[in-house]
Amino acid sequence: MSSTKLTAETIRAMKARGEKIAALTAYDFPTAKLLDEAGIPLLLVGDSLGMVVLGYADTTFVTMAEMEHHVRAAARAKPRALLGADLPFQSYPTVGAALQNARRLVAAGAEAVKAEGGRSILPQVRAIVADGIPFLGHLGMLPQSVREEGGYRIKGKSDAEREALLADAAALAEAGAFAVVLELVTPPVAKAISQAIAIPTIGIGSGPDCDGQILVTHDLLGMFPWFTPKFVRPKLDVAGQIRTVVKEWQQSL
Ligand code: KIV
Repeated sequence: MSSTKLTAETIRAMKARGEKIAALTAYDFPTAKLLDEAGIPLLLVGDSLGMVVLGYADTTFVTMAEMEHHVRAAARAKPRALLGADLPFQSYPTVGAALQNARRLVAAGAEAVKAEGGRSILPQVRAIVADGIPFLGHLGMLPQSVREEGGYRIKGKSDAEREALLADAAALAEAGAFAVVLELVTPPVAKAISQAIAIPTIGIGSGPDCDGQILVTHDLLGMFPWFTPKFVRPKLDVAGQIRTVVKEWQQSL
């Protein structure tokens, strides 16, 4: 594998080459280093860290200071992968706030930022892109709206939702996003969006026809056994292994 640093442009170009994009979350130094050594091209310090690392009920409790702390840790791995980070809840209500907080994440070591929403945040997206910060979109189920919406609901079931998602994706691409995450979007709508826009779609619980897939690493590895999303089949049972090994060690004393 080449050691050339991966950029947002590299990720965008993977779609044109028909290369599937694998993306995973990394919130700390060892995880970022291991996933990078395994060749994952896009790592995300997602605000999902609020649940799987910090023990919050959802992502709306995550602060900018917490995001910066974890971005610094992951960035110390100096990954070849592109390292993205989430702008947390209520950190981008205005263009000024979005720009200031995107710059804070970049100062902490992020190489791209992600925020949730489409046409409703276009001025913020344009300002971030104009500032030279690569932007990753996020459409479909928006976890930062979970309390407002009263749960995690699949998006794209009605014609109105389908049209809104297609329009939001096109708007993000036009505003300069290098890729867009599609979370819990019905597979036919995720496929239609992937065919309609030139930038890559990166799906999570949105079927197989996206240009790439992203998962929360803790879900993939079975590290958060108290909740596993329906669409994830864990490949390991790290939680079970920890319990077994720790018990065996205790009994060996
Ligand atoms: O917060 C997160 O980890 C995410 C991805 C899983 C898409 O937004």
